[in-house]
Amino acid sequence: LQGYIMGSGLNQNGFPAGEDETLLYGHFRDDMMWSSATASFQIEGGWRSDDRGGWRSDGKGLSIWDTFAHTPLFSLSLRSKAAGVGTIEGGWRSDGKGLSIWDTFSHTPDKVKNGDNGDVACDSYHRTDEDVSMLKTLGVKYYRFSIAWSRVLPDGTTANINEPGVQYYERLVTALVDAGIQPQVTLYHWDLPQALENVGGWQNVSMVNYFRDYADLMFSRLGPKVKLWITFNEPYIVANLGYGYGNFAPGVSADPGRIPYVVAHNLIKSHAEAWHLYNDKYRATQNGQISITLNADWAEPRNPYRQEDKDATYRYVEFFLGWFAHPIYIGDYSDIMKDTIRNRSLEGGLTQSRLPEFTPEEIKRINGTHDYFGLNHYTTKLIFPIDYGTQQNYDADRGVGAVDDWSWLESGSSWLKVTPFGIRRLLRHIKETYGNPQILITENGVSEKGTVDLNDEVRQYYYTHYINNVLKARLLDGADVRGYTAWSLMDNFEWAEGYGERFGLFFVNRSDAGLPRTPKVSVQTYNKIIRCNGFAD
Ligand code: NOJ
Repeated sequence: LQGYIMGSGLNQNGFPAGEDETLLYGHFRDDMMWSSATASFQIEGGWRSDDRGGWRSDGKGLSIWDTFAHTPLFSLSLRSKAAGVGTIEGGWRSDGKGLSIWDTFSHTPDKVKNGDNGDVACDSYHRTDEDVSMLKTLGVKYYRFSIAWSRVLPDGTTANINEPGVQYYERLVTALVDAGIQPQVTLYHWDLPQALENVGGWQNVSMVNYFRDYADLMFSRLGPKVKLWITFNEPYIVANLGYGYGNFAPGVSADPGRIPYVVAHNLIKSHAEAWHLYNDKYRATQNGQISITLNADWAEPRNPYRQEDKDATYRYVEFFLGWFAHPIYIGDYSDIMKDTIRNRSLEGGLTQSRLPEFTPEEIKRINGTHDYFGLNHYTTKLIFPIDYGTQQNYDADRGVGAVDDWSWLESGSSWLKVTPFGIRRLLRHIKETYGNPQILITENGVSEKGTVDLNDEVRQYYYTHYINNVLKARLLDGADVRGYTAWSLMDNFEWAEGYGERFGLFFVNRSDAGLPRTPKVSVQTYNKIIRCNGFAD
């Protein structure tokens, strides 16, 4: 395939421009000239040959190219969060659901833009059939959604199980499986039961047991039909935005130099215990896979020739992805995190590091608790160092600034610029740093805001080019990418941004009380990419 990467020269970061900017075309294109394929393949066609190639006509047997071209590269799917406060589920108090921290947060004045909340969201709680038929239109093979913990356990504990809540997810899973769509279920997508926050939330190590008990219930009830599990979605966001900056629920910002690290520590332990529970009690009979989903931007040094910028970029990636990936895929926090935070704590007059330590037993127990690498990725940043003096917080520990290149296409979210090359480099980084794991991309997508235009050109460009870079990562760089999931099925509650930033492939008209869903043009684009197995054409 190497021969089909066009373009030449170097871009600003010293990478060959062609690897990023030119689409990789698939082996089924009839205008391709293979150096090693047989003429019959080129002329008769392969993967899409049914309309022109006679690949099985008049007794022809299968060739290795017929087989190869019919082997899926990876599966593409859609995800939408399904928790009480949005992002799509709604039904925030239906049938015995308890309150989550996002219910509380979004009902607190000035926390969410326009005073939006997820009380109704896209009303998916009442529209399972409609959601499933949209998924069928798209042709996806998987659907990723999450459980609202407080819907199944209103006070967070198994002392009180809300049967109608559990049955809702059982129905959803059954509807998906019956439609030939595999469910991928996230246990925690940021909406802790408020009752558990009242006893300290993720700052409290007893969450490890509460989470394990909740996971146990879900494995036992949904596990017969669910073969793909995710413990936590983006623990980085929980730790930093929820308990550091406080701009996400539960809105804690009291001690940003200490609490985010404590929260992350408890999240990592909770993940590991849920993984072990599945491994010990359910794997043999249920035969699924379970991991964690980590988010990461890709990062490049602002000046690729300046050592300080390169060092800052390394810190950026290690403090972001590495914070969670290092303990789970390599063992313990990375030296750069341990050394930097310890030194800065001592320089700041403290007697010990603000980063909690794992015991040697914990290091061993956490290391290896993964069946794949779950990745959410959206954008890239250019990085340079910033000295925050003696300030004691995560940003000062990391000591970096981040900017965008002026040329990058914008989206509806200030933090998200369209940078397709970044996903390929990040996948390569994961391959090289974390032992070439199987990778499932669990989120990737783009937003728009303001005037509604169903011809969502930026999204069409985004999916075409990002997915093509995923193919390059897999086919040219050997990253073991097994699945790709777009965010999101339909416009939904975008957390503190409310409904203003729209990530959906389907538009949801919120000014109509019936909340009708209409396909944007990218629905066709995505459907075609799925049919072409990831290729754009
Ligand atoms: C990641 C989160 O998991 C998801 O809930 C969110 O809406 C998207 N990023 C877009 O910001």
